[in-house]
Order: sequence, then structure tokens, then C-alpha cells
Amino acid sequence: MAKMEVKTSLLDNMIGVGDMVLLEPLNEETFINNLKKRFDHNEIYTYIGSVVISVNPYRSLPIYSPEKVEDYRNRNFYELSPHIFALSDEAYRSLRDQDKDQCILITGESGAGKTEASKLVMSYVAAVCGKGAEVNQVKEQLLQSNPVLEAFGNAKTVRNDNSSRFGKYMDIEFDFKGDPLGGVISNYLLEKSRVVKQPRGERNFHVFYQLLSGASEELLNKLTLERDFSRYNYLSLDSAKVNGVDDAANFRTVRNAMQIVGFMDHEAESVLEVVAAVLKLGNIEFKPESRVNGLDESKIKDKNELKEICELTGIDQSVLERAFSFRTVEAKQEKVSTTLNVAQAYYARDALAKNLYSRLFSWLVNRINESIKAQTKVRKKVMGVLDIYGFEIFEDNSFEQFIINYCNEKLQQIFIELTLKEEQEEYVREGIEWTHIDYFNNAIICDLIENNTNGILAMLDEECLRPGTVTDETFLEKLNQVCATHQHFESRMSKSSRFLNDTSLPHSCFRIQHYAGKVLYQVEGFVDKNNDLLYRDLSQAMWKAGHTLIKSLFPEGNPAKINLKRPPTAGSQFKASVATLMKNLQTKNPNYIRCIKPNDKKAAHIFSEALVCHQIRYLGLLENVRVRRAGYAFRQAYEPCLERYKMLCKQTWPHWKGPARAGVEVLFNELEIPVEEYSFGRSKIFIRNPRTLFKLEDLRKQRLEDLATLIQKIYRGWKCRTHFLLMRKSQIVIAAWYRRYAQQKRYQQIKSSTLVIQSYIRGWKARKILRELKHRKRCEEAATTIAAYWHGTQARRELKRLKEEARRKHAVAVIWAYWLGLKVRREYRKFFRANAGKKIYEFTLQRIVQKYFLMKNKMPSLSPIDKNWPPRPYLFLDSTHKELKRIFHLWRCKKYRDQFTDQQKLIYEEKLEASELFKDKKALYPSSVGQPFQGAYLEINKNPKYKKLKDAIEEKIIIAEVVNKINRANGKSTSRIFLLTNNNLLLADQKSGQIKSEVPLVDVTKVSMSSQNDGFFAVHLKEGSEAASKGDFLFSSDHLIEMATKLYRTTLSQTKQKLNIEISDEFLVQFRQDKVCVKFIQGNQKNGSVPTCKRKNNRLLEVAVP
Ligand SMILES: Nc1ncnc2c1ncn2[C@@H]1O[C@H](COP(=O)(O)OP(=O)(O)OP(=O)(O)O)[C@@H](O)[C@H]1O
Ligand SMILES: [Mg+2]
Repeated sequence: MAKMEVKTSLLDNMIGVGDMVLLEPLNEETFINNLKKRFDHNEIYTYIGSVVISVNPYRSLPIYSPEKVEDYRNRNFYELSPHIFALSDEAYRSLRDQDKDQCILITGESGAGKTEASKLVMSYVAAVCGKGAEVNQVKEQLLQSNPVLEAFGNAKTVRNDNSSRFGKYMDIEFDFKGDPLGGVISNYLLEKSRVVKQPRGERNFHVFYQLLSGASEELLNKLTLERDFSRYNYLSLDSAKVNGVDDAANFRTVRNAMQIVGFMDHEAESVLEVVAAVLKLGNIEFKPESRVNGLDESKIKDKNELKEICELTGIDQSVLERAFSFRTVEAKQEKVSTTLNVAQAYYARDALAKNLYSRLFSWLVNRINESIKAQTKVRKKVMGVLDIYGFEIFEDNSFEQFIINYCNEKLQQIFIELTLKEEQEEYVREGIEWTHIDYFNNAIICDLIENNTNGILAMLDEECLRPGTVTDETFLEKLNQVCATHQHFESRMSKSSRFLNDTSLPHSCFRIQHYAGKVLYQVEGFVDKNNDLLYRDLSQAMWKAGHTLIKSLFPEGNPAKINLKRPPTAGSQFKASVATLMKNLQTKNPNYIRCIKPNDKKAAHIFSEALVCHQIRYLGLLENVRVRRAGYAFRQAYEPCLERYKMLCKQTWPHWKGPARAGVEVLFNELEIPVEEYSFGRSKIFIRNPRTLFKLEDLRKQRLEDLATLIQKIYRGWKCRTHFLLMRKSQIVIAAWYRRYAQQKRYQQIKSSTLVIQSYIRGWKARKILRELKHRKRCEEAATTIAAYWHGTQARRELKRLKEEARRKHAVAVIWAYWLGLKVRREYRKFFRANAGKKIYEFTLQRIVQKYFLMKNKMPSLSPIDKNWPPRPYLFLDSTHKELKRIFHLWRCKKYRDQFTDQQKLIYEEKLEASELFKDKKALYPSSVGQPFQGAYLEINKNPKYKKLKDAIEEKIIIAEVVNKINRANGKSTSRIFLLTNNNLLLADQKSGQIKSEVPLVDVTKVSMSSQNDGFFAVHLKEGSEAASKGDFLFSSDHLIEMATKLYRTTLSQTKQKLNIEISDEFLVQFRQDKVCVKFIQGNQKNGSVPTCKRKNNRLLEVAVP
């Protein structure tokens, strides 16, 4: 949301008048009353045009906060209530934006708040100007130069606890953007007499007290100082402590500030050493000592302090001691040394202390300048801030007051010049006719003081330089001669003095009528102070110091650069520096802050009218207002003026379309303001009399009230109407909703009533129908029932009739049967009783047996192996049944056998033999049962390959088959043709058919085999027989059972001896000489289902059977 700009003006909520120019009537009383009224309301700032009057509140007011800074930032000067920030902002902006160098001249008497004001200006400018690390450092250094300078240059006086005892002018330098670059400080006339002596109730410079209170023990020891103030002659004791001031804390602040400003540690230490040396100088005391030539000579009472000073500063003790005792005057290459008496020695000591301190102060300013000077050569914009002692009128006014008041005269001069110039320039700029303004020009007073030929300062210098005895009295005499005719100079001797007989004008005095009042000066000390002499011996002693800082402070002590010319006097020096300052100020746009001290008690809330009146007078503030008001009291640019008063005229309210000036013209015409009361400038309206402005303001106030009422009226009307409209709208909405709701309700009621009625009617109708239906149904049911009853009756009648009929028929039959039976029984009774029972029994039995034996459709199978047999039907036939089964089986076996041929009989005999031999003994046997025994598997007759073999055998071949003969040596097998004839057993080569061995059956003693499912068998031969030379045979064959059976049968039929067949899993065979055990091992088979044979060793041949 855009921030709404609220246009305000200085004229808003004014307490008294914010700008004295508007004061009506204008006189001292109204002026003071206005100031007082504002002061009582905490409005300490009041304007005179662009000049700010500041009344010291002597308490902290909440008007310097960062928020206030923001309030005043970039606002027009007259937009807000008077404030030092408004002036600072105006100056800064015109410096930054219009490239005009500025100076801020702060004047006022001691304790009026000049230094505070200058710090406020600096802090405001620091707050609103650019930001950034570098800029901040510059700002910080500029701000921190204040505590350092205040410590060394400020002191407690009766008027001000922190009175600046020097004049200060500081140029703050900015770049084109308005960022600070650095600064230059000039100092004017430090009140050095304070170092050695302070008036009652006042203190020496702060730094002495700060050092003694705040330094660490270590530092104090180093500086050979003691914490006790009373140890030092230069410190006044009656006001050593200042209320609300913590010297120790301030010491830390100062040291910290020095660090920030850029002092090296050794530099800060050197400075403190000089301060210590000054303090200690005060403790050197002298005593008179008579010399032979009758002259008084001074001697240092206690050399201890001197020794310590010398140690601290690195000065040869004897040199310093001598410098305190002798004075050497050089004139025309001649050196004359005179002794110093005690008074002169004290004078010398104090002069040294004052010089040391004031030179140290100047050195500090220079050192700070070195740190804060701008680091760039680009063109700088400058804002100068002058915080200089104001006009001073004391009871005893001396040289210092004279100098200070001279400075103020000069400032007044420049103020008049610049203010008038500015005023005039504005008139020219605005095209307003310039009317002469009557005011007091103080140039004449300045001339009285500074005129080069007969000015007071020139006279003083002349006196000081004049050979011969020079005293303050001779100086006054001279003044009486030269200035007597001047209208602003008065003295007892002046011929034109109107106060010739006035005893208030003492003898050794002269009076000057300054622009701000008359001041009576005591001539005592003028010459001395103007001379500002330091004996050359002392400056030379200082130059010889080992302490570099001290040495650098006294360059004139260098004997090589000895200068017989007198140094410029204090007066001329000051005059020159004031001249430079004035020249500098004249090039800048001035801004004035006039500080006023409200009371002498440094107290808040007290406004002493007499005191303020005095200040107003000598500050020439009324004059100031008059000058400002000479032509026109008030001026304002057309736009804000129109903006402010446009409501006073119908044409301009609420908006004026044309140019602002035309608007203002119309406005003023309409208001009938007399034409002589105002003038139209180019951009501003000039109002001659404040009354006119106040009239405008009153009208505006009245009109604003009317407008407020109007606005209020319209607003109230609008608010009520809006409210009414809202209510109406709401009422319509509510009514609509309510109607809808009511209609809904009614509708629902009607609907539910309808439903009730409807349901009643429907119920009634339904019940009516139901009743009818029920009636009809009952009628139907009644008919049916009646019909049913009727039918029932009829049916029962019929049934009864039929039953009657049937009973009768049955009864006839029964009766008939009975009758027949009776007849038969009567006929057969005589036969039946004797035979019938037995005959019936036999017949029945016969029938049963017949039926059983016939076994109709239940005849058992004729197969001998069929075990089925029909069950017996009657229990009593059990034994018959079994017998019948046995007989039947025998009969069917016989029947079966009778079919066999001889050939078949032989085969079955052989099979029977095999069964007897091997059944339940050898596991191979069951598989052989189904295989027919073929004997000659190998048809030798047909195969021509075996012709030779066939020819060799004459007998009938019983077995011809290929067997595996196991090699006796390694258990491997070779195929051999195995031939069994009636008498022999032959082995022949399978390929060639050549007979390999022939064993007569008589030599075969035994056949051995395992009980397992393998075809291995051994043929044991008779020991000693021819065939047995190679040992027993070990074969394996697929037809082992057949071969063993046939071998057994053939042997039996040929030799009539039963062949021994041994079935065992471990048996011995004779291989040549060795008996070898053949062992059968079940399982553990590697190569599938084929039994394998392996010769394990000499004694063992292992056969693995699957
Ligand atoms: N704006 C202010 N708000 C609060 N207190 C203030 C203000 N101005 C001045 N004072 C008080 O008044 C005292 C004196 O002010 P300051 O030192 O500025 O006077 P001065 O005009 O510089 O005097 P001198 O000429 O002796 O240096 C300050 O120490 C402070 O206590
Ligand atoms: Mg001050």
C-alpha cells in the first residue's frame, strides 16, 4: 500500500508561535513569553525564519530518537515543529542536492548548549548520510574526535560542568553522493591559564582528573603519579568531583575514542606522559636564596619532583634546573644571562606548563586531523560546524573575554551580512521590490578592535613590541589617546566619555559598547597575555628532551633554527585566524543555531526571564526578527500555500485546476486581504504582516471545523444510509428466506394432511373391497364346501355301496372256497394223514439237491490254476462242497494233462526238475519259470562258420549256447560257445568255432552258484583228471537255471550219479594250484544292472551283484 503522505506544517498545533517572525506584537516581552511558553511545553526549539533558537533544557528530552531522525528526514524546513534536526536536514540536503557548501554557526553563552547542539547536528548527519563499512568508519572517527577534544579542552566552570575552553570549527567533507569522506578541525585560543590556576568552584581540564581516577595502578606507577588529587598544586580541590560525572569511566571512553580515531598506543602513552609532566611541574616549588651581589635568586625546594619529571620526559635535570634559575636574553649576537627571582621562577614554571599543555592540545588537533582527513583528492562538499564561545560578560573581563567578544562581533557581522544578503537575494530571486531595512551594523565595533592602524589589537601589539617599560597602564594610556573619540569606546580618560564622572568606570579599565552590550575590560594582564612569552631557555630545554613528542612541541628551541624575531602576539594570531575563519564562512551557506541558557543553576524547568532577556539582547535576536521581517514577515511557496488555504474559497476547493499562483491570487482576492499586505513573488507569496497570516490561519481553523462537521455529516449520512441499505437488503433476504420457509412448511402440512386423508380413503376403500372379497370368498368357500360335502356324501355312499358289493363278492368266493376246501378235505381226509408228510419231505429234498448239483450257470473254470469255487448254498452241504471241489480239481487237472504231447511232457519234466533244484534257493529261479528251455540256442548246423565244430561232434547236442568264461587271472570275461553233449562238456571259440577244452561229464564233480539273482556258476572238476589241469571253470550265462538243470539231468542219466549243486554266496574254486574264494556281494554296483567280476587278490574274486 502506498504510504499516504500527510501534509503538515509548522503552523499545526503550535505552542505560542514556532517562528518568532510571526510574533505579534514584537517586543522583548512577547519574545520572552513566547520562548518561556514553548520551553514550559518542552518545545526548546523556536525559529526566527531559518535561524534556530535552542533553549538548553538541562535534561534529556525524548526528541533525538532514531524515529525522530526518520520524521525529520527529507521533510521541508517548515513542515514539522521546529527542531535542530530540521536545520541539519535542510543544510545536509542543500549540500547534497544543490551542491552548496554549508556552515552551521552555533553561538550562545557558556552552558547554553552549543557543544551539545554541534554533536546533535553531527549525529543527525551521520544517521542520514550514506552507509557502508568505510563510510561508517569515517563517521565513527569524526564522532569519536569529540570525546578526545572534550577531555583535553573542556573543564568544569561555574557556568557549565563541561565547558569548552577552546573554540572549535570542524569542516566535515562529503563526496558528490553525500557520503562523508573526512574532516578538518580548527581550534581557537585554548584557555591555557586554566592549567595553572582555576577560579573558585571550577576545575582544571577534565583529562587531569580522568587520568588520576581512571588509570590503572600500573600506568600511574609508570607515570610516577599518585591517585590523590590533593597531591597536585595545579588541581583545584574544592570541586574535584563533579556531580553525575564519572571521571574514571570517561577516561576509558577517551582512551577508546583515541584508539578509534587512530592514535597508536605509544602516541596515546606519550600524550599521557606530557599530561603527567604538566601535573608534576605544578609541584615544583622555589625558595629564595640571596646571592652575593644582593640579587635574589630562586632555588628549587625539593628536587625529587624535578628528577621524576626529567625521567619522564628524558630531559637532562641540570638543563631544566638551570632554565628555572636563569634567563638568557639574546640581542644582536650578545647573550646576557640573568638570574630569576622566585616570582620569575614561578612565572617561568607556569608559562612552561601552560605552553606544554596548549601545544599538546594543538598537536592533538593536528593528530586527529591527520586521521580524519579525507583520503581523496576529488572535489569535496563541505559542511562546517562552528562551536565557539559566545559573547561573555563577566565581572572581571580580561584579555580572553576581549578576544572572545571580538570573535562574536565578527560572527555577528557575518550573520548580518549573510542574512541580509540572503534576504536580499531572495527578494531579487522572487522579483519583489527591495525596501531598505534599518538595522544596526556592528562593522564599526569590529573596526575599533581590528583596525590595523588604530585598532585596539594593533595598539596592544605596538605596546608589546615597543622598547622601554611596557605595562598595562601604558597600554591603556595609548588607548585613551587613540580611541577616545570612538563612539563605542569609553574610558575614564576618554574625552568624549559621557560617564566621565561615573564611578562605575574604574581607572585601569576601558569599556567597549559591543553590539550585544557594554563590557568593561580590566587592562591588567593584557600585555603579558598578548606577549605569551616563554623564556627561550625553557623552550631550548624542552627541545633537548628525549621524549619525541615534547621535542616536537618546541621547534623554536632548536638552537640551529634560532630566530631572533619575536613570535606573533596572541592577539594578532587570533585576529589572523578569525579572519581566515570569516573568509571561510563567507563562502558557505550559513545556518544559525542560537543557544540560550534558561538559568544559571544548570537546572531543568527553570526559566529565568532576566537571564534570557540578557541573552536575547546581546545575541541581537530581536534585531534578527526585525531584519527578517523588514520586508515581509512570512513567505511560502505557492503550492503549499494553496494546499493549506484552498478550503477558504469556493473556487479553489476542493481542487484548483490552474497554476498554484493563480489559485493563491483568486484565494486572496476572495478573502479580501488588502493588497498592501502581500506580494506575489515568482515562486512564493510574501505576507507582510503576521496578522494576515494568523487571520488566514484562524479562517482555516474555522473552515476546517466546518469542513470536519461537513465531512462528519456526510460520513454519518453515508454511514446511516449504508447501514440502512444493508438492513433493507438483509430484510429482503430474510423475508425471502422466511417466506420460502413458511411456504415450505405449509406445503409440507398440506402434503401430509393430503397423505393422511388419502390413506384414510384408500384404507376405507381397501377395507370395502376386502370386505367384498372376503364375502365373495366365503360364498365361494361355502359353495365348495357344500359341493365337497355333497360330493363326499355321494362318494361315501358310492364307496359304501361298492364296498358292500365287493364284500358280498368276496364273501361269495370265500364261502365258495371254504365250501370247496371243505368238500376236498371231506373227500381226501382219509389219504392224507398216512403218507403225505414223508412224501412231501423227500420231494422237497430231492428238489433242493437237484437244484444244487445242476449249478445252473455257475459252473467253475476248467483251468487248473483257477482257484475260484462257487459258494455253498446250504450249510448242511459243507463236507460235500469241499470234496466236490477237490474232485473237480483233480478231474480238470487230468483233463488238462491228457492234452499234453510227449515233447511237452519232457519239457515239463525238465521244468519240474529245475523247480526241485532251485525253487526258494536261488533268486534267479522265478524269472526262469516262464522261459521255455530251448537248449540249442546256437544253431551250429545252420551256421557255416561252425561247420568244423559240428563235424567234430558226433553226439547229440543238448546245449549250445554262448557263455562268458571268466578269466581266472583277472576276472575279465571272454565269450565261449558252451556245448553239452550226452557225455561231454565242450568249450569252443565263438568266432572260429574251434574247440578250446573238452571235459567228460564224469570229471565234473560239482556246480557252484550264488543264491542271488546272477548268472555266475563254477564247474568244479575232479581232482587229478586231465581236464582239471587248468582248474575249475567259472562262467556266467543268461540261462543258468536251464544249463544247470540240463547238466544235472544229463549227468544223472549218463553216470547214474546225482551232480552236486552247491548254492552259496561264497565258495572255493581251484584255479590251477590256487584255491580261490568267489565271493558275491549284493548292491554296491557301479555299472548298472550287469553283475561284474573282479579279481581282488590271489585268494579272492569278487562278484558284485545288483
Ligand atoms: N539539547 C540538550 N538536551 C539536554 N541537555 C542539554 C542540551 N543542551 C545542553 N544540555 C546540557 O547543558 C550542558 C551544557 O551544554 P554545552 O556543554 O553544550 O554548553 P556550551 O554552550 O557548549 O557551553 P560552553 O560554552 O561552556 O562550552 C550539557 O552538559 C548538558 O547537560
Ligand atoms: Mg561547549
